[in-house]
Amino acid sequence: MENVDVKDVFKQLYGADVKSVYKAPARINLIGEHIDYNGGLVFPATIGIYTKCYFSKRNDNEIHLCSLNKKKAVTRTLDDLEKKENSWENYPIGAVYTLARNGFKLDKGFNMLFTSEIPMGSGLSSSAAILDLTIYTLKSEYNFDIDNKLVSLLAWETENKYCGLSCGIMDQAIIALGKENQAMLLDCYKYKYDYYPFNLGDYRLLVMKTNKPRSLTDSKYNERVKECDIALDLIKEKYRHANNLCEYKMDEIDKIKSILNSDLLYRRVLHVISENQRVYDFKDALLKGDLVRVGKLLNESHFSLKDNYEVTGAHLDTITELARKQKGCLGARMTGAGFGGCAIAIVNKDNIEEFKKNVKEGYSKILKIECDIFECEIPNGVGKDE
Ligand code: GLA
Repeated sequence: MENVDVKDVFKQLYGADVKSVYKAPARINLIGEHIDYNGGLVFPATIGIYTKCYFSKRNDNEIHLCSLNKKKAVTRTLDDLEKKENSWENYPIGAVYTLARNGFKLDKGFNMLFTSEIPMGSGLSSSAAILDLTIYTLKSEYNFDIDNKLVSLLAWETENKYCGLSCGIMDQAIIALGKENQAMLLDCYKYKYDYYPFNLGDYRLLVMKTNKPRSLTDSKYNERVKECDIALDLIKEKYRHANNLCEYKMDEIDKIKSILNSDLLYRRVLHVISENQRVYDFKDALLKGDLVRVGKLLNESHFSLKDNYEVTGAHLDTITELARKQKGCLGARMTGAGFGGCAIAIVNKDNIEEFKKNVKEGYSKILKIECDIFECEIPNGVGKDE
């Protein structure tokens, strides 16, 4: 796609010039997995691969959408925003629908052409990127009074109510509010956040893509959300009230175990409460520059997601096991929702080439597919493509 002049394609498709271009980055999560929808603390960062939106306004009420990646073009009108069967255009159309529901009605239609470097189903949040991006583009072009926090909330509403994934706010928040070279510590219950410089000294953060695709809407994601809701209701009824699972602490876990009287629910809750604690520990270790501890916490998080939350699978387990065996690697874990997708590892800069070679070879030998490993910069969140 690098060879294609997207503005020419736009002109051919729509008979109009591109007026503006916007872009939204992908994200990884350092730690705090599957706890955003449990009111927990998460620690994501943007990464420098993007979805872009080429835009022009129309004089009628038609919406023209096209994805160069999907090679798919769709036409609707502003009066026809209902969800159709599961497909890509539900994201941008759902965003227009949510804007209208919240009083941000478009007076005229538009043309949008999307290109994306963020592979769908790779766990790097392609869906939050396209949602934040569509809302950001429209609020900019139609002069709606919407700040970036509200961009993320409207994107989250679209994903939950329109697209059907009961996700938390992490992805929409970091893609809307991410800052260059900073990771964002986000309290998902209060929606409060702080930025921390992400400096690993001689170490680097690597993203490892398993190339095992998955779709979250039909994965077990919503099932996990439900299990947590059931557990919370039981604990509230039989033990003590809390607004969410992350308000319980590790010294209450035995009591909670006896109340739940279910090994499965207990393991889900154990993951949630212990993971929330790991985020605090991770932040302290990072601030102290204790990277050995940072790496250990990554590993512990992965083991908990594997054994207790059961969202990893052979591809993520294999790639992180191989990573941990390499010289200069301090730790590795899955990132994002799991069930395939991507993992991260912290590796000494002098060992990166050897690390990549060994992990790639080992991975393709065991799983008979190739993986990709790359380093990433941390850019600003959604915005205009200058
Ligand atoms: C997906 C969801 C997020 C979060 C992660 C797991 O990326 O969109 O809200 O729950 O999974 O931490």
